[in-house]
Amino acid sequence: MIEGWSKTGWRSRPRVQMPAYPDAAALERAERQLAQYPPLVFAGEARALKARLAEAAEGRAFLLQGGDCAESFAEFNADIIRDTFKVVLQMAIVLTFAAKVPVVKVGRMAGQFAKPRSAPTEVMGGQELPSYRGDIINGFDFTPEARVPDPARMLQAYTQAAASLNLLRAFSKGGFADIHRVHSWTLGFADGANAERYRALSDRISDALDFMNAAGVNGDTSAAIGEVDFYTSHEALLLEYEEALCRIDSTTGLPVAGSGHMLWIGDRTRQPDGAHVEFCRGVQNPVGLKCGPTLEADDLKRLIARLNPGNEPGRLTLIARFGAGQVGAHLPRLIRAVREEGAQVLWVCDPMHGNTIKSPSGYKTRPFERVLAEVREFFGVHAAEGTIPGGVHFEMTGKDVTECTGGLRALTDEDLSDRYHTACDPRLNASQSLELAFLVAEELSSRRRDMARVAAP
Ligand code: PEP
Ligand code: CO
Repeated sequence: MIEGWSKTGWRSRPRVQMPAYPDAAALERAERQLAQYPPLVFAGEARALKARLAEAAEGRAFLLQGGDCAESFAEFNADIIRDTFKVVLQMAIVLTFAAKVPVVKVGRMAGQFAKPRSAPTEVMGGQELPSYRGDIINGFDFTPEARVPDPARMLQAYTQAAASLNLLRAFSKGGFADIHRVHSWTLGFADGANAERYRALSDRISDALDFMNAAGVNGDTSAAIGEVDFYTSHEALLLEYEEALCRIDSTTGLPVAGSGHMLWIGDRTRQPDGAHVEFCRGVQNPVGLKCGPTLEADDLKRLIARLNPGNEPGRLTLIARFGAGQVGAHLPRLIRAVREEGAQVLWVCDPMHGNTIKSPSGYKTRPFERVLAEVREFFGVHAAEGTIPGGVHFEMTGKDVTECTGGLRALTDEDLSDRYHTACDPRLNASQSLELAFLVAEELSSRRRDMARVAAP
């Protein structure tokens, strides 16, 4: 156990972005109940993910993390889980082919329910109410009753997370994720209009799979072809929920968050002496840290010291989210801070959260070109600094929503109202997600070519 840490220690630290529950007795009941439930994930799985992330930090793997901005109680069924899972797997094949390293697949799923907000209240039609903070805390409806934080929601979130994870585990190992099958879904995409550019890569993947099949390497003979490892992650925002699901790993005797494989600390809750950093520093799961434009080098150094004092590989993932046009202004100083500390970290790009704008039609959106531009800037800075861009982090869904503009089908501002379903931030739809994977694959391939050129005698 880490010196001076306990799972309740966060309670004596300054906290931000957490609800003030009006009914203390109801809160205690919910916490007691949750604490009796089994953990959703096991420590060995979290350790396995940590080992995979350590490989990504060295360029021997690549992280693909994606899913909803906020999971919701209303939008919850098997098809939604299946479709997001499908797109993540399709993206992973494209990225694996380009990067020539295994892609580590982590969903923003089975626990991504609590949301930090930029303002504590919202005004609509002259009425001011507390902000919606995610289904695990309060309700989306704009009524005073719905917006009261209700601790019983934690139990519903747990149940939904358990059911989601159960299905994800079945899909991962039950034949559904066979690489041939997953690639066959992508062929339809690459046959679409304007997709000429992606068809060539897609055809090369088909050839490689046909070759392996002919050589006798297929889902029947190789688990690597027929099954996948799929991990879950969410922002560790609601610490009552995290504390109640925290367990001691019987193998190591160390605390582990039982709520998901990987946790991350949001850009608004990363105060080095605050409650969220305090909780996360004591659990042995891999931990992500969102790095926005206001993060200074000194604070990053303090955070690294708190979150990964033993410099354990795979423990700390730094998720850069600066916005297109901003990466060059911020990422280099943080890369240098990491270098000065001699810290082992995995660098990942979240090109979503720095690129949210209000469209002329009034919807929160993210232009596809800006998302792509941030990814390219991230790769560019790492190439210049000689460091490794080890993964990407997207808000996306397998559904055909209209929340982000642009992409192959050129969604416009006017289209946003058609199928705008997100409970929080705008997500890439299935086609935009896959297109982005093809474009990131092009970046990865050209980087590999550059490195090979440098390495050649
Ligand atoms: C998020 O990932 O949904 C989020 C709120 O991100 P950030 O903390 O980077 O703003
Ligand atoms: Co978000």
